[in-house]
Amino acid sequence: MPLHVIKHPLVQHKLGLMREADISTKSFRELTNELGNLLTYEATSDFELEPNTITSWSGDAIEVQKLKGKKVTVVPILRAGIGMLDGVLDLIPSAKVSVVGLYRDEETLEPVPYFQKLVKDIDQRIALVIDPMLATGGTMVATIDMLKQKGCEQIRVLVLVAAPEGVDKVLEAHPDVHIYAAALDSHLNEHGYIVPGLGDAGDKIFGTR
Ligand code: URA
Repeated sequence: MPLHVIKHPLVQHKLGLMREADISTKSFRELTNELGNLLTYEATSDFELEPNTITSWSGDAIEVQKLKGKKVTVVPILRAGIGMLDGVLDLIPSAKVSVVGLYRDEETLEPVPYFQKLVKDIDQRIALVIDPMLATGGTMVATIDMLKQKGCEQIRVLVLVAAPEGVDKVLEAHPDVHIYAAALDSHLNEHGYIVPGLGDAGDKIFGTR
């Protein structure tokens, strides 16, 4: 099943702190990055290694393991995805960043891209798409469509909280994509918020609530 809910105690503890009603902007922002970091650790756990011979501190030639040419692009979805970016890049500092932004058309209710600045060689990279909340899944599906149109074949989604509705929508459209989440919550309410969720993650990260 390409949904991975990360049960690690640190992940669950940090997510629990984020659910507090009166959390400060500073704490919410820090925890968003920390969870971005821990989700990245999990989402890259199958990256291949290859042996490399190096000269060690003692002058001896020894064999060490290095990542086998996996090139990554991190894809934050504006605006809230930016909140996870530093946490991801802390672990993969050589990754390139491809930013996308989508708005919802008021008539069709479909997500429409208004900004995309993708790395040129995205067809040769693994994409880690980041957005704290996977709610209806419409924006995520449209983002994955966009990446696949550019030839990107290996796509992983990192979210803090997922709603079952969003997971179903993404996996129905893109069954090859793996989703890494700190929690799979109950449902969406009538306003499209995840329950119990975190509230408006973008507002909490940027302090605009
Ligand atoms: N976006 C959010 O920030 N929160 C939700 O619950 C759903 C979408």
